[in-house]
Amino acid sequence: MARQDKVEQPMILKGGRVLDPSQDLDKVCDVFIQDGKVAGIDQNIESKDAKVLDVSGLLVTPGWLDIHTHLREPGQSHKETIQTGTEAAAAGGFTTLACMANTHPVNDNSFVTSYLREKIANEALVNVFVIGAVTKGLEGKELAAIGSMWEAGIVALSDDGMTVMNSYLYRKAMDYAKRFGLTIISHCEDTGLKGRGVMNEGFHSTKFGLRGNPKASEEIMVARDILLAELTGAKLHIAHVSTKGSVELVRQAKARGIAVTGEATPHHLNLTDEAVANYDTNTKVAPPLREPEDIEALCAAVADGTLEVLASDHAPHAAEEKEVEFDQAEFGMIGLELAFSLYYKKVLEKKFSLNRMVQAMTVNPASVIGVPKGTLKIGADADVTIADLTKKWELDRFQLKSKSQNTPFHGHQMNGRVAYTLLGGRVIYQYGENKGPTK
Ligand code: DOR
Repeated sequence: MARQDKVEQPMILKGGRVLDPSQDLDKVCDVFIQDGKVAGIDQNIESKDAKVLDVSGLLVTPGWLDIHTHLREPGQSHKETIQTGTEAAAAGGFTTLACMANTHPVNDNSFVTSYLREKIANEALVNVFVIGAVTKGLEGKELAAIGSMWEAGIVALSDDGMTVMNSYLYRKAMDYAKRFGLTIISHCEDTGLKGRGVMNEGFHSTKFGLRGNPKASEEIMVARDILLAELTGAKLHIAHVSTKGSVELVRQAKARGIAVTGEATPHHLNLTDEAVANYDTNTKVAPPLREPEDIEALCAAVADGTLEVLASDHAPHAAEEKEVEFDQAEFGMIGLELAFSLYYKKVLEKKFSLNRMVQAMTVNPASVIGVPKGTLKIGADADVTIADLTKKWELDRFQLKSKSQNTPFHGHQMNGRVAYTLLGGRVIYQYGENKGPTK
């Protein structure tokens, strides 16, 4: 799944606050890692053969998952590559990604899936699972080769970036998804209603003279997809939920026992449509930034588990694709190296708990795509993220590992920083001043 190097000598993570919602664990203790797996969690672990990583004062969690990442390969390596994207992931604390299918060519058949999986095995610094397209070419006209992509190893289906408007076809897709045990991840924007909208429709779109995209364009599709999930029994995951109305629909669907999950992004949790004020094209994203009441609803939904996943929607675009008129710019912003601090901001604002945040970055996304990750239970892969919650830093978008710099958070004060990222017991990222393991 990721580049495999030699097995490391055992290691003890000493004296950190170990927080693992998958086993209701939150205590200061040591973690013992052997043969790339978690081999023990206890007080005062000693082993003369092991290296010791002093993590006192730091938060130790299962390695984070981001199930909504655009790695841009094949076809758009000027924006990002598997290598740069996974280096960004490691720096952002993510040990596992799921990459979206809107590449060139689209990942809508087993040849592209196999190509990607081989490239990932050779070049990725972290684990990467592959998502297959729902329809050929993301055109919404004909189903993609779902069965053969499943055989080639996809973990979910999505036309993310596009909405499948044909409900008959989407029903069929859900039938296939169910048959193969795949979750279907929906990008919800009614193409007709969205029209050429480039930001949220409301006071600010009128003020800025930009075409609006109403909240109803998202909510109509969320409602339809929930009804189709009910009809077919497929597992549905709503990507980048952005409105209060969508949250309410997901909440009601859950109460009715429908298998639906949802995610919130760092940008929808932190920015409103007012951020478009200076026509910064880095604020242009699909679905668009909404209003304060939507942020409140998203936070409440993360807090009560209605949205059980936090996902970055890391969408790198090159400078020349963003340094154009607002109407012409691509939709999307990078997220992998900012996500944690932006989620943690909400914890500091007491919108949701630290435990809930970690759950939404570990065990919950792992369960949505059905992969054995997001836990530090004994025997699990020793994918571990270690963060310094006290660290404050200023985001400099030119200092990031990602190949693209399209973020509106440049210059923002960030709280919390990844100190170490471990994959299979190996340190794959360590923040500048940290010492690393000692014998
Ligand atoms: O803003 C977005 N950009 N939203 C998406 O769903 C797709 C993404 C992209 O691929 O750039």
